Amino acid sequence: MRAMFESLRVPVVAAPMAGGPSTPELVAAVARAGGFGFLAGGYLTAATLSDQIHKTRETAGETFGVNLFVPGVRSMVNVTPYIERLRGDAERYGVEPGPGRWDDDGYAAKLDLLVDERVPIVSFTFGTPVASDVERLHEVGTRVSVTVTTPAEAREAAAAGADMLCVQGFEAGGHRGVFDDDPTQDAGGALLGLLAALRLVRAETDLPLVAAGGLVHGADVAAVLTAGAVAAQLGTAFLRAEEAGTNATYRAALDAAGRDTAITRAFSGRPARGLENRFLRENSANAPASYPQLNNITKPIRAAATAEGDPEAMSLWAGQTYTHARTAPAATLVDELAAQAREALAATSRRLG
Ligand SMILES: Cc1cc2nc3c(=O)[nH]c(=O)nc-3n(C[C@H](O)[C@H](O)[C@H](O)COP(=O)(O)O)c2cc1C
Repeated sequence: MRAMFESLRVPVVAAPMAGGPSTPELVAAVARAGGFGFLAGGYLTAATLSDQIHKTRETAGETFGVNLFVPGVRSMVNVTPYIERLRGDAERYGVEPGPGRWDDDGYAAKLDLLVDERVPIVSFTFGTPVASDVERLHEVGTRVSVTVTTPAEAREAAAAGADMLCVQGFEAGGHRGVFDDDPTQDAGGALLGLLAALRLVRAETDLPLVAAGGLVHGADVAAVLTAGAVAAQLGTAFLRAEEAGTNATYRAALDAAGRDTAITRAFSGRPARGLENRFLRENSANAPASYPQLNNITKPIRAAATAEGDPEAMSLWAGQTYTHARTAPAATLVDELAAQAREALAATSRRLG
C-alpha cells in the first residue's frame, strides 16, 4: 500500500462521493492525470457497482479503488416523530416520507463482488470491517483502507488488519466516518481538525495515512504531506470537476458560494457536513442518530427537490473550503494541485532556510 500511494505521480486522491458525484469518468481522469480515484459503492446495488468497476477498468487500468459503507448496529430510536415532522415538507414536494427502515446497504453482496473483482484497494467508512472480511480481501491481493476520525478508531482499524488509514478531519464535506455515532454529540464524536487528527493518529500507528478534510489547494496537499500523510484525499475539490456526476442544482449552489456549511443528521441520521439550506436549518435540532432510517425517510423528499431543481431540501454535501473549488476538467485540477504543492514546498523550504 505504501508503495502504491508513494509511487503516484501526484499524491492526490479523488474521494469516493456516493449519491452521484463519483463516476468512472472522474476516477479514470484523475488516474490518467497521475492521481488516484475511488468509486463510491455506497447506495449502489452490486450490479451497478459491477458495471462501474468494469467501465473504470477500461480507462483507468488498475489505478482505482472502491469504497463501501460498513453497516452499523440497528438503532432502536423511534423515528415516527421525525416522519411526522417531515409530513409538511413531503406535501410541499408532493411525496410521502419514505419508510423508516434499517438496511445494510447490500454490504455482503458488494463485498463478494469486490472479492471476485480483485479490486486494487477497497476503502471503508462508518466503521471497520471485521477481520475475516479484511482477510478475504487480502487473500485476493486487495489492500484495505479504513476512514478514521480519532486515535481510538485508528487502533480498532489497525487491529482488524487495515493496510492504510484515511484520516478525516471535521472540515470534511459529506458524512463523518465516525464508527459509532454518539447521539449525545452533534458531530457524532470528537471534532478533531485534520492536522490534529493526523498527529494523534500517527502516534498510534505506523500505517500509511491518507489525509482528508477541507483540502482544496496544492498548498494544502503539501501541508498534509509535510505532516506525514502519504497522499491527500479531496472530495469537494472534485465535486465540480466536469467528469463528476454532481447535478446542476448542486453545482449552482456550490458556485453561488453564498452559504455556510454545517454538520447535520437531518438528511440521513448520521452527521455529515453540507451547505446550509431550509431543510437543514429546520430539522437538524430534531434529527435522531438513526442511520440509515432517516436516509430512507428523507429520500423521496430529496429526490423530489432535486427533480424540481430546488436546493432547499437537497443534501448539498460540501467541505469547509468549498468556495475555493471550481469547475474544470479533473486533469486540470490535478495538474494545478501538483504545481501549487511544488511551489508551496519550495517557498516553505526557502522560508526555513
Ligand atoms: C458529496 C460527498 C460525498 C461523499 N461520499 C463519501 C462516501 O461515499 N464514502 C466516503 O468514505 N466518504 C465520502 N465523502 C467524504 C470524503 O471521503 C472525504 O472525507 C471528504 O470529501 C473530504 O473533505 P472535502 O470534501 O473538504 O475534501 C463524501 C464527501 C462528499 C463531499
